Amino acid sequence: MAKKTIVEFVCQNCGTAYPKWQGKCDSCSEWNTIVEEKIGGEGFSNIGTKRKGYIIDFVPLSGSGVNLERLNTNIKELDRVLGGGLVPGSTILVGGDPGIGKSTLLLQLCASIANLPSHPECYYISGEEAIDQVRIRAKRLKLENSPVHLASATDVKDIIATLEKSNAGVVIIDSIQTMYLEDVESTPGSVSQVRATAYELIKLAKKKNFALFLVGHVTKQGSIAGPRVLEHMVDTVLYFEGERGHQFRILRAVKNRYGATDEIGVFEMQDQGLVEVDNPSALFLAERQGNISGSCVFAGLEGSRPVLVEIQALVSPTSYSSPKRAVVGWDSNRLSMVLAVLEARCGLGLSSQDIYLNIAGGLKISEPAADLAVAMAVISSMNNKPLPHDTVIFGEIGLSGEIRGVSQPNLRLKEARKLGFTSAITPASLKKDKKPAYDDISVFEIGNVQKLINWFN
Ligand code: TYD
Ligand code: MG
Repeated sequence: MAKKTIVEFVCQNCGTAYPKWQGKCDSCSEWNTIVEEKIGGEGFSNIGTKRKGYIIDFVPLSGSGVNLERLNTNIKELDRVLGGGLVPGSTILVGGDPGIGKSTLLLQLCASIANLPSHPECYYISGEEAIDQVRIRAKRLKLENSPVHLASATDVKDIIATLEKSNAGVVIIDSIQTMYLEDVESTPGSVSQVRATAYELIKLAKKKNFALFLVGHVTKQGSIAGPRVLEHMVDTVLYFEGERGHQFRILRAVKNRYGATDEIGVFEMQDQGLVEVDNPSALFLAERQGNISGSCVFAGLEGSRPVLVEIQALVSPTSYSSPKRAVVGWDSNRLSMVLAVLEARCGLGLSSQDIYLNIAGGLKISEPAADLAVAMAVISSMNNKPLPHDTVIFGEIGLSGEIRGVSQPNLRLKEARKLGFTSAITPASLKKDKKPAYDDISVFEIGNVQKLINWFN
């Protein structure tokens, strides 16, 4: 009997499948994203099989497991994000805006690993660029003599047949949206192609025990294009982010089966490629001006690493009927919440003021611990009074105006001290938790936001 082709209508934004076409996706509320896809063939071996199931064996939790042997990539920032090196057989998805530097990073990585004393075989397969284009980049990066196996290919069957015969240690696929399997009848980059090609490549990586890097494009909303399921299939998801106008690039782990998430690696994009940044705090504070109102230094934490960044606010009378709020590098809902608390609990009149907030250097902060620094910058700008130049600040603000404790205060204070700061404004719960170990930094503890206002009087 001929195999029946199954047709599904799949949202290209979120991957939800429907039996019939419809204009709007019920799941993600996007319009015109639902496309007909024929499914079947490779990557979907569960469809149409008649085999009976085998009995599986259960084992106890304890037992001898293999120790994960990690491969150091020789790029410290990358090893840190990966949780201490590359795990053979694992798959890493690297997402990021076009032109942010994904191909550059992965080419540098590939060359770095290929040059290790053990010489693992490294394969760089580009579906986006021709061989000459990659060669030009390699020349620019002065990596043209590295023993990397380079190919330009998009047919996953060919890639698998080739890699099956190889002794690959690391394989880079740039990008998964250009790969296709001819058995799947939809265009490359569609949800079913991405899902099926990734499935086949991941299966091979596990079988041959090589580390697989997949480059993934991101959508307008900033998530990796294709189904969310791709993020579930891989072991590690890294986002490469940064503002196009800034030279800093941040590699952030958002999922990691072999290490901590929220860990960041910091790079600087220079003429000769990406250069690691050992001391990001010094870099983020390098262009800080002295004695300017509306600026304060937040002692933040990115994964296990403390990072000091400058938070800038500008408050000016509005000329619109509703005041403007613009935020770069922080959550605008969080800003609205902090402003509401300042209005309700401290009586500040912010409804007639435009407020602009900027995290200097192009870093994106998601920690609630930045609340207090944001509030401080806003109040400082409103009063036109600068904060002392040598003070850092951190703390979360609750809706009743209380300042809540944050994780790892001592680590934050240590970093501040290292960079020459002599005082810190912190939550009041700090001493209760643990007395800060650093006596030569004066700690001012505040319990609620009203105290912030007093600071300027
Ligand atoms: P690329 O790695 O092609 O980005 P992606 O793969 O994420 O789309 O990076 C391209 C950008 O990086 C390009 O705008 C030029 C810049 N660049 C440098 O500034 N220095 C360099 O050494 C290289 C190779 C690229
Ligand atoms: Mg690229």
